[in-house]
Amino acid sequence: MSKSVLILPGDGIGPEVMAQVRRLLDRIGGFSLSEGLVGGAAYDVHGTPLADDTMAQALKADAVLLGAVGGPKWDSLPFADKPERGLLRLRKDMELFANLRPALVFDALAGASTLKTDLVRGLDLMIVRELTGGVYFGEPRGIEDLPNGERRGINTQVYTTSEIVRVARVAFELARKRDSRVCSVEKANVMESGVLWREEITKLREADYTDVALSHMYADNCAMQLVRAPKQFDVIVTDNLFGDLLSDCAAMLTGSLGMLPSASLGAEDANGSRKALYEPVHGSAPDIAGQDKANPMACILSASMMLRYSFDMAAEADLIDAACQDVLNAGIRTGDIVESGMTPVGTVAMGDAVLAA
Ligand code: NAI
Ligand code: MG
Repeated sequence: MSKSVLILPGDGIGPEVMAQVRRLLDRIGGFSLSEGLVGGAAYDVHGTPLADDTMAQALKADAVLLGAVGGPKWDSLPFADKPERGLLRLRKDMELFANLRPALVFDALAGASTLKTDLVRGLDLMIVRELTGGVYFGEPRGIEDLPNGERRGINTQVYTTSEIVRVARVAFELARKRDSRVCSVEKANVMESGVLWREEITKLREADYTDVALSHMYADNCAMQLVRAPKQFDVIVTDNLFGDLLSDCAAMLTGSLGMLPSASLGAEDANGSRKALYEPVHGSAPDIAGQDKANPMACILSASMMLRYSFDMAAEADLIDAACQDVLNAGIRTGDIVESGMTPVGTVAMGDAVLAA
């Protein structure tokens, strides 16, 4: 495999954290790296947040690594030109239907959590969110005027069997590489799409994944369980809307935005490889941009996910994860995760430390 990676650093702290990732990838070697513009950086040069040429490069690459987009400089642009549109186009044109959001608590940070240490210590769960269907895209949608003078806002939750099955497959495959447990989350008690979701996932497990344990949970209960006893979960698979909420909720169990990676995966092609975009969960952090303050770990851990899921380089991914762990254990922290008695280090020094480890 050629291992071509398109790097899109983007705006704000994006280029700063991505620079540390590049050093790591250069050290590992064997990648064919190219770089492009996305977001405000692309708008400033091309007048669009994602040029057609960059989109074409993304479709050809084996994986895309993105930093972050957006910032006050571009806030007043019309909707079509906004930096976020660059990211949305990437997700749409690459047909990235499965969004993977791990919630992992590093031992060294468990004590720093605002939650009870024993609640989150050792937490390692993965939320698989359906990303291209459901109520965010369903038709009909719109706001209509009613004869009685009222107005009505409409959205439609729609899922087809194929949409459910393809994201469920991603969840089952992931579970096989983890603790072999999938919890499927919907509201089959009040939603038809939830009934279908539950039926299809149950059928798929019986057909292809009897080695993986499957449970079902209503979304409201899942929100409660995530806060009450999050370690009961291994892989959670859910729709676009519930996944949006539950993944943000799970993220905050782990503490800092600066530690959270993500992956978005598309369909498998004939060769068994899939389009994939890896990015930190955080945004462009304009408040600390250009000051060597950003935590590069979310972006570094996103690159580690890329090695694991796009390139079958589990050993190298494990090395990166362990290096991050060692650095945290040694008390080396950026400002967002620093504890009392520690002196915060900058973005570059954090990159130095991970590289050394
Ligand atoms: P943000 O994630 O950029 O920042 C929220 C807070 O977390 C800030 O105080 C920031 O300093 C801190 N933070 C974020 N990442 C950090 C890191 N790696 N190290 C240390 N501290 C970190 O979210 P915000 O402020 O809501 O949005 C800022 C801009 O980013 C906006 O233009 C927004 O549209 C964009 N954005 C882009 C996203 C993306 O590219 N995927 C996602 C979220 C927001
Ligand atoms: Mg959200």
